[in-house]
Amino acid sequence: MKPLNVADYRLAAKRRLPRGMFEYIDRGTEDEVGLRGIRTALDMTRLNQHVLNDVSVPDTSTVIFGEKLPLPVIISPTAVAGLVWHDGEVQLARAARAAGIPFCVATQSMTSMEDIAAGAAGANLWFQLYVFEDRGLTRDLLRRAKALGIRNLLFTADTPRSPKKEWNTRNGFGIPIKPSLAGGLDLLAHPRWSLAVMLRYVMTTGVPTYAHYPPAYRTSVTRAAVWDNVKLARRLTWDDFAEVRREWDGNLILKGVLSPDDAERALSLGADGVVVSCHGGRNLDSAPMALDALPRIADAVGGRMTILADSGVRRGSDIVKYIASGADAVLVGRAPLYGTAAGGEKGAKAVIDILREELDHCMAFTGRSRLSEITREAIWRP
Ligand code: FNR
Repeated sequence: MKPLNVADYRLAAKRRLPRGMFEYIDRGTEDEVGLRGIRTALDMTRLNQHVLNDVSVPDTSTVIFGEKLPLPVIISPTAVAGLVWHDGEVQLARAARAAGIPFCVATQSMTSMEDIAAGAAGANLWFQLYVFEDRGLTRDLLRRAKALGIRNLLFTADTPRSPKKEWNTRNGFGIPIKPSLAGGLDLLAHPRWSLAVMLRYVMTTGVPTYAHYPPAYRTSVTRAAVWDNVKLARRLTWDDFAEVRREWDGNLILKGVLSPDDAERALSLGADGVVVSCHGGRNLDSAPMALDALPRIADAVGGRMTILADSGVRRGSDIVKYIASGADAVLVGRAPLYGTAAGGEKGAKAVIDILREELDHCMAFTGRSRLSEITREAIWRP
């Protein structure tokens, strides 16, 4: 049956992916209080319905960092997206290009930024930075992103430790993938994924692993020798953010902000934007919901910097709720990943099209014909 919504694509992804892989993208951390809370916060937010406005042609376009986008949506960085489909990051970038929206390449990508740029020529690429223990490697990533003409850098700051993903400890999924009996049986149970992805990776590039890590990391014999350098920085402070600001002359956006103080501090250090995010319920399980934290942050820094937000967007109405709460645009992580896992570029594009159509509907039902009309008053208060 043709998938009609993001939830259908999630089920299609679940059927196709090995269990360990699916749970890695789908689940949260610890007790998944955060994951459930994100959905609850969005569902509990009701929108005012207004009738008899001319909504014959709602305009979903916006301008982010000087660029006109047909939709207020950016594809969020997701580590190992390249595993859900062979060359998954290239598929995502092509889908983004077809939809005219940006795709943010992750530091922990399976495909290098150069290969993504070549495989999806003309795509609007952003880059997400995780700072390594070895700051020289980090500077090198910035140089490479700049050489590709990338202008927008997301500095992810909300992962000071590897989060406790107990589902992955139990199902054995990790990068690099380690051979195990359970993992082998999992692959055998999902022959379509295994043949299409694993065999092609093994035949072309060896065991799939992070493409931006130094070559020594990519071979099992020398991996241990460079491990200390490629660990994500354990000591990461505002000084590191200021240093990246000095080195990066494009737009710098701090990702993982949930307090007005942090947003103010980022602004004072020259940030051009923030992503208000609870990391899709994948980091601090007890974090406030991005949707709840957003209005105070928008009140503090709105108009002085670009405010992006993410976590839990599965419907067009979710986009409206984030915009009404103060975001200029949203990032989507899992939704297009489910699409990619189900059908590569076509699946990811179909998910973006669903979000576009639902956004258009939601704007029409709420009587708003432009994104700028989606203000706080769009949210129903009893
Ligand atoms: C992520 N996210 C993420 N963020 C980041 O800054 N760097 C990263 O490497 C990753 N990796 C990653 C992997 C996977 C599988 C997922 C699902 C997510 C977080 C991501 O950018 C975004 O903040 C959330 O995914 C948003 O929530 P939704 O849209 O997935 O509900």
